[in-house]
Amino acid sequence: MPEPPRSACLLRVEGLTRRFGGVVALADVNLAIAPGEIVGLIGPNGAGKTTFVNLVTGFVGKTAGTVLFADEDITRLAPHEIARRGIARTFQIVQPFSEMTVLENVMAGALFAGRRASLKEAADAARHWLAFVGLDRLAQTAASDLPLADRKRLELAKSLAMGPRLLFLDEVNAGLNSGELRHALDLIHRIADSGVTIVIIEHLLRVVLSVVRRLVVLHHGATLSDGAPHEVLNDPAVIKAYLGTKFAQRHQAELESQRLKYRQQAESAADRAE
Ligand SMILES: Nc1ncnc2c1ncn2[C@@H]1O[C@H](COP(=O)(O)OP(=O)(O)O)[C@@H](O)[C@H]1O
Ligand SMILES: [Mg+2]
Repeated sequence: MPEPPRSACLLRVEGLTRRFGGVVALADVNLAIAPGEIVGLIGPNGAGKTTFVNLVTGFVGKTAGTVLFADEDITRLAPHEIARRGIARTFQIVQPFSEMTVLENVMAGALFAGRRASLKEAADAARHWLAFVGLDRLAQTAASDLPLADRKRLELAKSLAMGPRLLFLDEVNAGLNSGELRHALDLIHRIADSGVTIVIIEHLLRVVLSVVRRLVVLHHGATLSDGAPHEVLNDPAVIKAYLGTKFAQRHQAELESQRLKYRQQAESAADRAE
């Protein structure tokens, strides 16, 4: 996929690298994301997806590389300074402040990003986002009492309370049942429709594909493929390293039947026109 020009980028990552001792978790990753894009970041366990988010958001230090956000170099900023500029993320391993209520947890998000001048404003924002994710009834519950699906929603509300322009969703749907998943997907579509740029990390391909218009595949800390979903899913390198040939054959059959359907539609439209 051709890179958007520098000024059209919301996020531009160059040469991003992180080593942990002998392990190269992320190796020289380049990525440019335009405002309003919804990007799926996929790849096997240990590929470096969470590390990528940790580095961009400043939660983990970089071995090398630069991160530009809205043309500003944020490479060396602290997490709260990055949050203040408009990048939020959910945590794959949800760890709410368990001694605090659900409402207080979301307020902490609003205050962390510094968008709210007073506690009252932070509480108002927190209530708004709790209602958005459907947790308003549980505002006064201790966060530690929430079941997994609700903890995932809390995590989402907390990141939204930061008022992000760019949102990283790190496996927010993992462990949800199908009803919960439908609700979560509906929320993600609504967040995208509101103009927030989203990078979604997700294991279930059909879930990613229902949301994104671009896929980036990480493998061993490096970018294996980047482009439109149908191109990436048909990329031999992706099939070999990640999807496996069974998936590719199945996917190929689906694509073929789609093509056939389109051709039949086109032919019958042509017949009608004659
Ligand atoms: N804090 C850490 N200390 C040591 N190794 C780590 C640390 N964080 C991640 N890694 C290693 O970096 C690699 C990438 O991990 P991660 O980014 O969590 O992958 P993913 O999210 O794609 O599953 C893995 O080999 C993992 O073990
Ligand atoms: Mg991860």
